[in-house]
Amino acid sequence: MNTELKSTKLVITNSLIKRFRKSIIWLYVITVATSVPIVYFTTRYQVYSEANKELSLLVDMVSSLRKYISKDIRPSLLQANMFESPAISSTVTTSVIASYFKEKQPDYYIKVASDNPLNPKNLPEPLEIKLLNEFRNNNDLKEITETGLINGHQFLVSARPSTAQKGCMLCHGDPVKAPLPVTIKYGTTSGYNYKLDSVVGVMGVGVPLADINVLVMQRGLVAVGIITVIFSLIFITINTLVKRNILLPINDITKASIVLSKGDLDYEINIKRDGSEIGELANSFELLRRSLKWAMEQSK
Ligand code: HEC
Repeated sequence: MNTELKSTKLVITNSLIKRFRKSIIWLYVITVATSVPIVYFTTRYQVYSEANKELSLLVDMVSSLRKYISKDIRPSLLQANMFESPAISSTVTTSVIASYFKEKQPDYYIKVASDNPLNPKNLPEPLEIKLLNEFRNNNDLKEITETGLINGHQFLVSARPSTAQKGCMLCHGDPVKAPLPVTIKYGTTSGYNYKLDSVVGVMGVGVPLADINVLVMQRGLVAVGIITVIFSLIFITINTLVKRNILLPINDITKASIVLSKGDLDYEINIKRDGSEIGELANSFELLRRSLKWAMEQSK
């Protein structure tokens, strides 16, 4: 009888609790699998919207500065014939301020690059060469915003073309006619002979892009950790509840029915009859046992 009871118990345990466990494990796998792309896309969105916000701040700051130079400073310098002042050109001011800004904020990027520069520090990097060519190939293009590598770091960059106008020729035209302070400081070999209306440089402003992959990895690990803890708790709870409230009582009823089938009509099931479905089953079973016992006694 013992082995019989044990095998009954095994069959029940295997089918029911395994099914519960399997469902929970599948739910866990599905939740983890969907959480990773969700983490990826929200992180990407957040990184880009933060970078865009910073970028528009920086672009507006630089353009305000340029406006100040060309609107408020340049006219009075022209009136005073101070052509050699770097502040006579907003491009120069931007270029000089960019180098100061870089000292304070090495992670950010402001630059006026040219492949024919007065200052060799302004020679373009691969990304800037690409932007220069794009502006040269399409005269209507007034702004490009894109991501790219500068010095091995990912940036979100906003770039505008720097176009040669009449006023630029004062310093960037014939080097023999350029103001002395310019030729003394920068020499006479590079940065001159601009052609009118040609794109001579690219003004770029950039903000660093956080490494999305590293962020996704960190946040993904946290998400998977939290999901694992929650599912472990659910797993343990359901396991215990199913065992205590369904499997053990069913086992008792099974055991009792086997005992009953062997002819022992005095074996009472030891279950709390709590009004649940299992309790009802135990109740009916107990009723059955009593009727059987009564019937047997009557027929003696
Ligand atoms: C008063 C002289 C002067 C005028 C006018 C001037 N520039 Fe310059 N420009 C300079 C100097 C000086 C630099 C170098 C600044 C530095 O050291 O970064 C420069 C730098 C630049 C650069 C960065 C590359 C380089 O040459 O180092 C570009 C591009 C440029 N100027 C374009 C222009 C354009 C376009 C205009 C007209 C709208 C203009 N400049 C007007 C003097 C001038």
